[in-house]
Amino acid sequence: MPRHSTKNFVRLVNIFVKPYWARILLATGLMFLLTASTIPLPLIIKYLVDDVLPSHRKELLLVVFGMVFGAALLGRLVYLALRYVIIYTGEKVIFQIRSQFYRHLQRLSLSYFDHKQTGEIMSRVINDVYIIQHMLESGFITILTDLLTLVIVIGIMFHFNWRLALITITVLPLYAANHEVFVRRIRRTGRAIRRKIEEIVGSLEERISGVKVVKSFAKEEYESKSFIEKLKENYRLNMRLGILSSSLSSIAGVLSGFGAALVLWYGGRLVLEGVMTVGSLLAFYSYTSYVYGPLVRLVQINATIQWVSAAIDRIFETLDLQPTIKDMPNALELDKIQGEIRFEKVSFGYTPDTTVLHEIDLEVKPGMVVAIVGPSGAGKTTLISLIPRFYDVTSGTITIDGVDIRRIKQASLRKHIGIVPQETILFSGTIRENILYGRRKATEEEIIAAAKAANIHNFISSLPDGYDSIIGEKGTKLSVGQKQRISIARALLTNPKILILDDCTSALDSKTEAQLQETLRTLRKSRTTFVIAHRLSTIMDADLIVVLNEGRIIERGTHEELLDQKGFYSRLYYQQFKAELESEKGNVRTK
Ligand SMILES: Nc1ncnc2c1ncn2[C@@H]1O[C@H](COP(=O)(O)OP(=O)(O)OP(=O)(O)O)[C@@H](O)[C@H]1O
Ligand SMILES: [Mg+2]
Repeated sequence: MPRHSTKNFVRLVNIFVKPYWARILLATGLMFLLTASTIPLPLIIKYLVDDVLPSHRKELLLVVFGMVFGAALLGRLVYLALRYVIIYTGEKVIFQIRSQFYRHLQRLSLSYFDHKQTGEIMSRVINDVYIIQHMLESGFITILTDLLTLVIVIGIMFHFNWRLALITITVLPLYAANHEVFVRRIRRTGRAIRRKIEEIVGSLEERISGVKVVKSFAKEEYESKSFIEKLKENYRLNMRLGILSSSLSSIAGVLSGFGAALVLWYGGRLVLEGVMTVGSLLAFYSYTSYVYGPLVRLVQINATIQWVSAAIDRIFETLDLQPTIKDMPNALELDKIQGEIRFEKVSFGYTPDTTVLHEIDLEVKPGMVVAIVGPSGAGKTTLISLIPRFYDVTSGTITIDGVDIRRIKQASLRKHIGIVPQETILFSGTIRENILYGRRKATEEEIIAAAKAANIHNFISSLPDGYDSIIGEKGTKLSVGQKQRISIARALLTNPKILILDDCTSALDSKTEAQLQETLRTLRKSRTTFVIAHRLSTIMDADLIVVLNEGRIIERGTHEELLDQKGFYSRLYYQQFKAELESEKGNVRTK
């Protein structure tokens, strides 16, 4: 084990296992009892053959009965108690690790999730913790019992006859070597199979949920072929695994057979020479079968330790990560805010070597509506992500009511900000639950008011289950615009002082958008609003339009001012909005 792994192992024990030391002590005691209960059987056979049968004392048969049955009964009772203690403790520890891990994950900043694959994070919560669970619940027991069994049994064998014991033991290294050779390959193949399965499942999931794309490009045949190709590889790997493991067990069988033959042949001679009793030979023979299993497991202990310690390392790697965005020690709690926001020379990049926003200066008075316009990739979403401090600025400052947002507690800051993100994300559950996500304690009237403001109340009421309609995989299917409006209702429910709408009206028809616009207009007196939009009506209405291009504010002003400037905005206006404007005029005329 590398040194840091040992350190992590000690930490794991200290944090998660130490609280259960009494139970673990109990488990260890039970374990010794369990091992002790399995060892006497060959000795009882020896007693039967060497002492009881020759003496013709029938009453002693009852003693033999009592000993064999008693040992079995005791063994199983101890086993039951042991499993109970171990599973109880193991599950407690695992519960602790998983919940602490998840809580920690929730505390990490957004940038962590930007750079990690979801699958990898999930694998840590599920697989790595499972590996530790396995170690705690079975690995730990077997290692100790194995060691104990080996020492006692080999000791007894030497006690019977050291020559016979030496001969028997010569087979053991061969037996262990056979395992060492094959198990390594089996494990490698097993890993390859797991990866292949993950790949198959991943592509299956993508292709099934993206079946529309497959069909629209008429790629069914191609997809089937590429899937079959993956299945074939999986088949080849599984064949390989099958051959490897049957070779392993065949060779192991031959070797243990050789060992048994050796014992009976040489032992038989010893009995004929009168050096050994028949009972001792029988007992000795039984004991040889005790050593193979523990031996193999102990030989593999190194690989097991590596496997487990890698999992422990990965878990601590995540647990040790500090959120990049932390509350300052004396961070402020803001009860009420006016909603004045100021960017001063703000530059930002997601990584140290790239800059997405350059020296942004922006002053927004309480209650203003600011529209942010610009080409795709200009940095609009990035700009608004800085306000709730999803990321910290690289340089410059952002203030709310004159307070640097880095001096405000994150929870307190975000309480005042409602965000409707560009990509709508609703969780599986009912519509009510999704809207309530913004503020769990809202009343029914407040939910309905938010839904009305987001122009979705009528739709929801038209559903058979109304607000209790289940959405997501198994529930009602919603259109993109309906999802957007639920997402808007969720943000409005918190009644935030600062409202940020990131392109969230893109899927709404102009009538719905106009209605929403109307709502926002009535709401906006009391709140500062940022909107990123492509629709002219939304933008024209804003108190301030900010034109962003390649991370820089290149123009700012009201609609009229910007048109007068005849710059980027006016070009954009004439290219992009003229058609829209004309069609709207047309609509008016036809009415
Ligand atoms: N999480 C991220 N990590 C690294 N780079 C990012 C991340 N999000 C965005 N970027 C980069 O930052 C730049 C600005 O992206 P942003 O999402 O702010 O653009 P946008 O103006 O909102 O575009 P759109 O109109 O298409 O939504 C892009 O070059 C993008 O590649
Ligand atoms: Mg965007």
